[in-house]
Amino acid sequence: PIQILRTKAEVRHWRAAQTLAGNSVGFVPTMGALHEGHLSLVRSSLRMNDKTLVSIFVNPSQFAPTEDLASYPRDFDRDVALLSELEYTPAETPKRIAAPEANVDESVLRTTTKVDAVFAPSVEEMYPSGIPLAVSEQTGAFVTVEGLSSQLEGAIRPQFFRGVATVVTKFLNIVQPDRVYFGQKDVQQTVVVKRMVSDLCYGCAVVVVPTSRADNGLALSSRNAYLTDQVREDAGAIFKGLQRAVDVYRTETDAGKIIAAVVETVAEKIPVEEIEYVCINDLETLEELERVHPLKGAILSLAVRVPNSFGGKTRLIDNVIL
Ligand code: PAJ
Repeated sequence: PIQILRTKAEVRHWRAAQTLAGNSVGFVPTMGALHEGHLSLVRSSLRMNDKTLVSIFVNPSQFAPTEDLASYPRDFDRDVALLSELEYTPAETPKRIAAPEANVDESVLRTTTKVDAVFAPSVEEMYPSGIPLAVSEQTGAFVTVEGLSSQLEGAIRPQFFRGVATVVTKFLNIVQPDRVYFGQKDVQQTVVVKRMVSDLCYGCAVVVVPTSRADNGLALSSRNAYLTDQVREDAGAIFKGLQRAVDVYRTETDAGKIIAAVVETVAEKIPVEEIEYVCINDLETLEELERVHPLKGAILSLAVRVPNSFGGKTRLIDNVIL
């Protein structure tokens, strides 16, 4: 059965045991309300590592006081059940270890692997000095990644990436994984974390996993639970717009023209004024580009607001790499 770890001390103990046994450790940080997108990250980790640890923690420091911290979907028992069912069986014995002279029992190498442990700490465990939601009242240590945190999602959510970088730092210090997994869905998060891991000299590899989508192309998200079926269906226009852009990019590098194709397609189902941004940015610096360099490529990302089932608005984000 999956081990449920609640404290930093328990995780450090678990990690020390893996080091002693010579096991590589993959780590998948999540805020729970798990869906197929999260599970695809977990499968990647199961495939690449001896042991996999998944964290479930709704991180208060990445929510603004006006955001949905209190109502963010939480269902710990369901999450643990989903993770318990997940297993990975290698399709074939890895060739490099299968040399006949090695004389190993090959069935051992094909053993199914499952998630070893879940880290589900309390807020007090992760923020021992407390965490007032208003940034002006916060004291103590936080991590900021300068230059990558104030555009795109950071422009609309000013403290968001400070919260993400801070909690990911805490997790990396506690878990000390060999590999940490993030979804392409939150592309700016992957850029911020990669830069932080490099600049702060962490030893782990950052692995980015492709976006999981519903049948109509809508990127899976825990917040999709806030939407009605009709809105979820209309929101398929977002990925349709991104695909149109990929098509346009075959013959066009002007950012304005690529963006116009996205806006036009999205606007077939979602009012134009609800499109917050559609932007083309450099893959590493996030610098906004007027022209896509065909060899370097770029990130095309967008955010739109759609009506949710509580009479408010929910933001949806998506992106593709050009
Ligand atoms: P959360 O939104 O729960 O997402 C956890 C991870 O799952 C992130 O790396 C995210 O990019 C990935 N993910 C979400 N939807 C996905 C999809 N449709 N396809 C592929 N991957 C997807 O992102 C966070 O939590 C937090 O910011 C966290 C990193 C845990 C720090 O608090």
